[in-house]
Amino acid sequence: MDRRPIGMFDSGFGGLTVARALIDLLPEEDLVYVGDTARYPYGPRPLAEVRRFAHQITRYLVEEHQVKLVIVACNTASAAALDELRRSFEVPVVGVIDPGVRSLVAATRNGHVGVIGTVGTIGSGAYQRAVAAADPGVKLTCAACPGFVEFVERGETDSDQVHVLAERLLAPLREAGIDTLLLGCTHYPFLARTISDVMGRDVVLVSSADETAFSVRAQLTALGHDRPPAEMRAAGRATHTWISSGDVATFRALGRRLLGPELDDARPIMWAEDGSWR
Ligand code: DGL
Repeated sequence: MDRRPIGMFDSGFGGLTVARALIDLLPEEDLVYVGDTARYPYGPRPLAEVRRFAHQITRYLVEEHQVKLVIVACNTASAAALDELRRSFEVPVVGVIDPGVRSLVAATRNGHVGVIGTVGTIGSGAYQRAVAAADPGVKLTCAACPGFVEFVERGETDSDQVHVLAERLLAPLREAGIDTLLLGCTHYPFLARTISDVMGRDVVLVSSADETAFSVRAQLTALGHDRPPAEMRAAGRATHTWISSGDVATFRALGRRLLGPELDDARPIMWAEDGSWR
């Protein structure tokens, strides 16, 4: 039994797709979420810079919130920093790439799958390696989708403009003959309707959110770090803490619309150049 919270982070609102799955699966667990909206988007940045941000946020979660596990709820940061974070910190660090790939290879029927993500994620080769390791017989077609994240961060998930962009970016995947598409950026599930309209009903969309939550539950249970529901009921409702490096009023308003009523308040954080925070 371990009452410490679970920590998680993303460049902004995308990780809320993982937070939703986690709250639904583990309602008894306390959660601390950092949305690094002051420095989003991570996708176009050099991987070394994203790694530095990921390290700083993880250190903040461990030192200020004493989290028992960290979820890198961002594919770009998982691609850039997962190995380094696991080496640097004692707490377990869970990424979103391997859980997503497990769902992807389990779902395909024709053996030809697609992954979409940021320029950083696709360029890193992390998905290409993970799919080959999970099932060498599966054929993979990847595409970067620059611009999708910005639409989500503006709260624009269903406009004509995002549809036009999706038509253009997803054309190669539509022509490739895939039957399953992994949304390899935690922001993209918010665009699922648009992406599905463009890809057509025959293509199954897969996100890493649920599988990541299952993976967290398995790790906590294996370590004896989970918080039994009876404990939670005795203590009252689990607490969810939402922290944003950008405008907190925007984070609260748009975050609540995207995640739901659990996002009832947001606190600010400011990153300093020397790696510290205020
Ligand atoms: N949600 C992040 C991901 O999964 C990315 C976003 C960004 O470009 O900031 O890759």
